[in-house]
Amino acid sequence: MTISINLKRIIDDSYPIHIGPLPEIKVEGKVAVLTNPKIAGLHLKTLLSRLSAKEVYIITVPDGEQYKTLQTIESVLDRMFDHRLNRKSQLIAFGGGIIGDMGGFAASLYNRGIDFIQIPTTLLSQVDASVGGKTGVNNRFGKNLIGAFHQPRAVYIDPSFLHTLPSREFGAGVAEIVKMAVTFNASFFEWLENNDLREGENLQIAIQKAVETKAGVVEQDEKEQGLRAALNYGHTFGHVIENETEYTTYLHGESVAIGMVMANELACEVGLMSANDALRVQKVLERYDLPLSYPIEDVESFYQAFFLDKKSADSAITFILPRGIGGVEITDTVDAQTVKKVLSKFDRRNA
Ligand code: GLY
Repeated sequence: MTISINLKRIIDDSYPIHIGPLPEIKVEGKVAVLTNPKIAGLHLKTLLSRLSAKEVYIITVPDGEQYKTLQTIESVLDRMFDHRLNRKSQLIAFGGGIIGDMGGFAASLYNRGIDFIQIPTTLLSQVDASVGGKTGVNNRFGKNLIGAFHQPRAVYIDPSFLHTLPSREFGAGVAEIVKMAVTFNASFFEWLENNDLREGENLQIAIQKAVETKAGVVEQDEKEQGLRAALNYGHTFGHVIENETEYTTYLHGESVAIGMVMANELACEVGLMSANDALRVQKVLERYDLPLSYPIEDVESFYQAFFLDKKSADSAITFILPRGIGGVEITDTVDAQTVKKVLSKFDRRNA
């Protein structure tokens, strides 16, 4: 006998993304603001001056990728229970990508899921991580391997939070902007070649273009069944680099920058990209002092680490390779020999 449960449903998870000065935010129930001591010191006063809610609780977690763990999530959930949050309560993730990912994940778990709002304060989280509902933590097997899709109710992107951003963090955010342009928008990439993001209104324009690009991709493929995987351009290589260096050497966006250079090298090798286009990408990354190379210690173990990537099936590695500028190919047919040949170019002994 077979009993079927019919769960076909139409869900409207649409949400607004405001770009501009932080507006008044009104919440009916209790609010927990998840942040870290650094962001709290710099910007919490601003947020609290715009926020009205029944009760507001501040939960801080230590700053750093090494704290993006299930243990930290458990401590956040404990605090939420201490404050007796309920299903009508909301969590505000106030910080960079790590806070956004952990805040969204804690919200997805608490009472089997409460609403949350993203208020990103780094360039990387403003242009990428805060949009699209990916939440989660790392474990010893790799980055973001535990998590949930949980869309925020709203995203507030206020570029004025970026005034206090250290220049390395700025560059890390630019890497994600470049990613969006190379894979989906050739004219945006040309604009990036011709405009410095540190001048005038250019940064706000770039944030807007990057978020529009990302929103368009997420609308087509929320749960990453296909197209959305293209936003992981540079990440397949980058995640291995981050894991090998135990998240201590490079910021996420920096390892993505190196990962894009490696992916471009592979794209050139299989005939998807010209050496000239690869150089154009490199030049834009260089302008923001991003690292472009990584000395691989052991090509074989770097290669094996690809198999932990969420996109990869049991025996094939999925690579996101640019098709020139403004196009992208998601492929699992690149043979091991070709991949290892490209990795060998980054072998520390050949560097
Ligand atoms: N950061 C890639 C994505 O959200 O899909």
